[in-house]
Amino acid sequence: MSFEQLKKQIMKLYTNYMGLKLNSPIVVSACTLSEKTENIVMMEDNGAGAVVLFSLFEEQIKKEEARFKSTMSATTNAFAEAQDFFPDLDDYNVGTDEYLENIRKAKERVKIPIIGSLNGITNEGWIDYSRMMEQAGADGIEVNIFFIPGDVNLSSSHVEHRYINIIEAIKSNVKIPVAVKLNPYFSAMGNMAQRMQQAGADALVLFNRFYQPDFDINQLIIKTDLHYSESNEIRLPLLWIALLYNKIKLSLAATTGVQSAVEVIKYILAGADVVMTASSLYKNGIPYLKTMNKELQDWMFMMGFDEINSFKGTMSQQNISDPTAYERANYIKILEGVK
Ligand SMILES: Cc1cc2nc3c(=O)[nH]c(=O)nc-3n(C[C@H](O)[C@H](O)[C@H](O)COP(=O)(O)O)c2cc1C
Repeated sequence: MSFEQLKKQIMKLYTNYMGLKLNSPIVVSACTLSEKTENIVMMEDNGAGAVVLFSLFEEQIKKEEARFKSTMSATTNAFAEAQDFFPDLDDYNVGTDEYLENIRKAKERVKIPIIGSLNGITNEGWIDYSRMMEQAGADGIEVNIFFIPGDVNLSSSHVEHRYINIIEAIKSNVKIPVAVKLNPYFSAMGNMAQRMQQAGADALVLFNRFYQPDFDINQLIIKTDLHYSESNEIRLPLLWIALLYNKIKLSLAATTGVQSAVEVIKYILAGADVVMTASSLYKNGIPYLKTMNKELQDWMFMMGFDEINSFKGTMSQQNISDPTAYERANYIKILEGVK
C-alpha cells in the first residue's frame, strides 16, 4: 500500500449532514454544473460528499402553471398577462418535469446524496414541488429564500414570518431533511436560527451570496454581471458559524468563498458540518474536488487529526480560550492596532 493510500485510510473525511452520512464534508453548492448528470457522476468520482442541485425557481414554477392554465382555458389570456411578471428563466434553467427527471437520473447513477433546491419567497403552490422532489428520490431539500425586503412598509417581523412559514409548509410536505439557505441580514441572527430550528429546519446554509448590482457610469445602466467569489468572502459566514456552533442543534453548512482546502478547514474549525463550493469548480473544473479532498487529508495528517470530528468547532466561540475574540472587544483591539 502506498503512503497516499495509507493516509487516505487513516484520515477519515466522513461527516453527518442533517442525518445524511457523507464520505466528505466537501459538497457541491447549488449551481448550473449539476444540470448535467455526467457532471454529477464526475463530482462523485472526484470525492464530492453530496451534490445540491441547481435551483427550481418559484417564478419558473408559477410561469409553467400559468402557461398550463392558459392552454386549458382558451378564453383567458392568463399566460400572456403572467408573462410580464416573470423574469425570463427559459435560458437559465430546465423545466419542472425535466428537473424531477434530473433527480431520478442522478439517483440511478450515483450513491452520494442528491439534494434538490427550491428557490422562492412566498408561501404558495411552488412549495408542493418539495414533495415531488422527494418522490423523485431526492435525499434532502435545500430551500433558498432569496428575499430583498426593499419595501419600506415591510417590517422585520413580517420578513421573519415569511421564512418560518415557508419552512413549516415544506416540512409538512416531506419526510426528508430540509436545509434553509439564507442571507445574513437579520437583526438577531442567533434567535432567528433558533426559530428556524423550531419551525422544523434540519440545517442552515450560511450564507446566500447576493449578487449585488453595480453601475456602468458611462451608459448609466445597472450591471448584472456575475463574479465568482474570492477567499476573503468567507469571513461573514465564518463568524456566524463560529457563533452558532453548539448553541443550536441544526446542522451547519458553509457556503461562499471556498477556493481551496484552506477555506474548507477554516469553516470546519468554526463548526461547519459541510462546506459547499461552486465558484472554485467553475474556475478550476470539477476534478478540483479531488485536489481539495487530498489537501484536506494532508493537513489533517500534518496536524494529527484522524477524522473531521476531531477538529470540527474547535475554533468556535464556545471552544476558544478567549470568546471575546468574536465580539466587540476584538473590534476595538483591531482599531487600536491601526496606526
Ligand atoms: C453560476 C452559478 C449558479 C448558481 N446557481 C444557484 C442556484 O441555482 N441556486 C442557489 O441557491 N445558489 C446558486 N448559486 C450560488 C451558489 O450555490 C453559492 O451559494 C455561491 O456561489 C457562493 O459559493 P461560492 O463562493 O463557492 O461560489 C450559483 C452560483 C453560481 C456561481
